[in-house]
Amino acid sequence: MERLRLPAPTTRRLLIISALTGGVVIVGLVLLSASGTVEWTDAVQLALTTAGLAGLAVAVLLVRRADGKALRIDQRVKRNEAALAQLRDSVRALAVQLKETSAGQQAGVNTVVAALGEDRAELAGQTELLKRQAKALDAQRSTVDAGLAEVKRSIEGVDRAVRDQVVRALRARTEYNQVEAMIDLRAMLQPRAPMPRLRGWAASPDVIRLLVERIAADRPKLVIECGSGSSSIWLGYAIERFGGGRIVALEHEERFARASQDLVAAHGLDSIVEVRHAPLTDWQGQPWYDTTALDDLSDAGLVFVDGPPEQTGPQARYPAVPLLLPHCAPDAWIVLDDTVRADEQQIAERWLREYPELTATSYAAEKGAMLFRRSTS
Ligand SMILES: C[S@@+](CC[C@H](N)C(=O)[O-])C[C@H]1O[C@@H](n2cnc3c(N)ncnc32)[C@H](O)[C@@H]1O
Repeated sequence: MERLRLPAPTTRRLLIISALTGGVVIVGLVLLSASGTVEWTDAVQLALTTAGLAGLAVAVLLVRRADGKALRIDQRVKRNEAALAQLRDSVRALAVQLKETSAGQQAGVNTVVAALGEDRAELAGQTELLKRQAKALDAQRSTVDAGLAEVKRSIEGVDRAVRDQVVRALRARTEYNQVEAMIDLRAMLQPRAPMPRLRGWAASPDVIRLLVERIAADRPKLVIECGSGSSSIWLGYAIERFGGGRIVALEHEERFARASQDLVAAHGLDSIVEVRHAPLTDWQGQPWYDTTALDDLSDAGLVFVDGPPEQTGPQARYPAVPLLLPHCAPDAWIVLDDTVRADEQQIAERWLREYPELTATSYAAEKGAMLFRRSTS
């Protein structure tokens, strides 16, 4: 059987029990005195005694309770003191440790500072050395720069000299080519009167020889020339020498048309060369020879495009192919002069792009020339 366990009597419970006991005794005495069982004086005496005993018990309990409290406080104080002492010891140990660490660190710092001091001194020495070396290098660089400038000047001088020589050689070659072509032309065609000048405003001997070669090879029945002048005379002689064709030279300026006609007459070429005055008129927004001058022309085997002059407008010679091709033989040759100029190069590109029946060969003439061949088959 399980034993009944009463809770441990605390001071508070003992106080309550004492008060209740005292109260019960007093109530009992009052009842006993009221019933006459006990004399009221005895009852009062007993009640006072009981009250006194209860008061004493309460006092004892209060003292005990206060003692308990004091004991607990005392124990807590002691525990706190012990914890404090422990904390103080830890702080002391920490302080000692810190002191040792800082001493170690200080020693380290001292070593580093000392090492740095040595390094600084060494670095200062090296810096000084480097400065001296940089100064020496500067001096050397000035010498090298001066040398390089001298070499550059010499190279430029050599370059200039080589360029001059190349230009002179090319010029000499060009001059030679023109003289050679002129000798050829004179030997081949044997003019009957003084010939008008070539080069400058007129075509150069090399391109005239190219045209004469074509006449000699193909013997065209009709040659159309855009721009009259010296070339008209040389081509007239070529037609006379190699075949029975004729030349129609278009000329936009009346005075030059007359001058060319005079030349033709002076060389006795009137039956071969016809200079037609064809003033410039508008064709699709650009000036070109009046196309009524072309009406009776057909089957031209050779066209020499040497006009209108460039100052008459951009791509001044472009209309030659669109307007003359219908008057040309299916296998006609077209020679465009002055292709060293960008304008003429663009004209050549346009012709080739727009007229697939044409093929072209560049000719290394003094002013540049392009030889186009028409092939309709
Ligand atoms: C590039 S030049 C060449 C003419 C021609 N194909 C020749 O080679 O002699 C073109 C223009 O020069 C002009 N010209 C013709 N005779 C000239 C002369 N004696 N002096 C200056 N210009 C002339 C004409 O207007 C001609 O159309």
